[in-house]
Amino acid sequence: MGTDQPFSQTDLTWDYSDPVNGPTIPAPFFYDPSIFAEEKERIFMKCWHLVGHVNEFNEPGKYIVQDIFEQSIVVTTDKSGDIHAWHNVCRHRGNRLMTERRGVVGGVLRCKYHSWCYNLDGALRAAPRTEHLSNFSKEDHSLKKVRLEIFAGWVYITLDNDAQPISELAADSEKILHRFLPDMDNVELLEETDFIVDANWKVIQENSIEGYHFDLSGPVHKDLAALIDFKDYRLTAFDKWWTYTGPPNTEVSHAYGKPLEGATWQTDWFFNLGLWPNTTFYSFPYTDMIGTFIMIPLAPEKSLLRFGYYVPKGREVPDVTKAAIAWMNTQLGPEDIELNVTNQKGLHSFGFGSGRYLIDENLPNQSEHLVFHFHKLCYQAIRE
Ligand code: FES
Ligand SMILES: [Fe+2]
Repeated sequence: MGTDQPFSQTDLTWDYSDPVNGPTIPAPFFYDPSIFAEEKERIFMKCWHLVGHVNEFNEPGKYIVQDIFEQSIVVTTDKSGDIHAWHNVCRHRGNRLMTERRGVVGGVLRCKYHSWCYNLDGALRAAPRTEHLSNFSKEDHSLKKVRLEIFAGWVYITLDNDAQPISELAADSEKILHRFLPDMDNVELLEETDFIVDANWKVIQENSIEGYHFDLSGPVHKDLAALIDFKDYRLTAFDKWWTYTGPPNTEVSHAYGKPLEGATWQTDWFFNLGLWPNTTFYSFPYTDMIGTFIMIPLAPEKSLLRFGYYVPKGREVPDVTKAAIAWMNTQLGPEDIELNVTNQKGLHSFGFGSGRYLIDENLPNQSEHLVFHFHKLCYQAIRE
């Protein structure tokens, strides 16, 4: 028997005209530095980035720092309660202003280098020893504004002033979010957990938008599949957003190792709503929380995976919900991350190249049509 020719693709194109019979997006799209550079410019410098819930900005001086590659943006609330986004940089000599992920400042954003101070509305309030400078005006040295939009109670920013408003792009998602997450307007952040994953951001995304591996991969996935009526799990694409939802298995008495008796929940469904390109809102069955799941690219084969957990304000967090959060952080999340890492390694193999999508309308709960949809959006964004 002869030796197979190793796969190698150098032209970095993909014919996606026949997802059912054709190839998956070629492997180099998950590690090639030129693809990553194109994604940075054409996807991440242009898309909307979730910063947090409006309730995280309910007092003047509260801020969140959001990095988009080497760009850093600080989102703050001013004295009148308006939320603004600024480039997180001092206009004096370019020192980064705020270095913590989130916090509260008194009335100003102060640069630690030479103590220039900016009001929460971005105006330069004080710049020591500049009184005698000729040709200098504080008005010319305000913080530079970044575009911000509040949609369905969540704060988003974009570096692209021409980006389609997120309220248009995801218009119909709002009523679905409210249907499954009725307490969405009244939540606060309970916890944020960051993981560094040695995988391309798309590897993480595609894992989460298919049900094929659900009852076939690890034991924790099977536990989750058992909480839902898996045959009715459905994955639906709406252009720049998508849902994947499963109704509850009403036979269960325990979830995440806790009895359901006496517990309360926002939804008994497994609910997920993804927004192009890298944000997911979700809730686990029988939990009283809203999870955010954000895949932030750091390098072609390194991503920051950020889990946010929001719970209704002023209500005790049920034990089942607490257990679900711990289970996500220590069991389901790591089980998927392990797959992300082994998948990333395999993509380099001379024995792979391109694969096949399992797209089957007779298996709507396990079909990979949403993976294809996502790959196509990624490909079109950089190539068309
Ligand atoms: S760089 Fe900020 S005050 Fe000098
Ligand atoms: Fe998974």
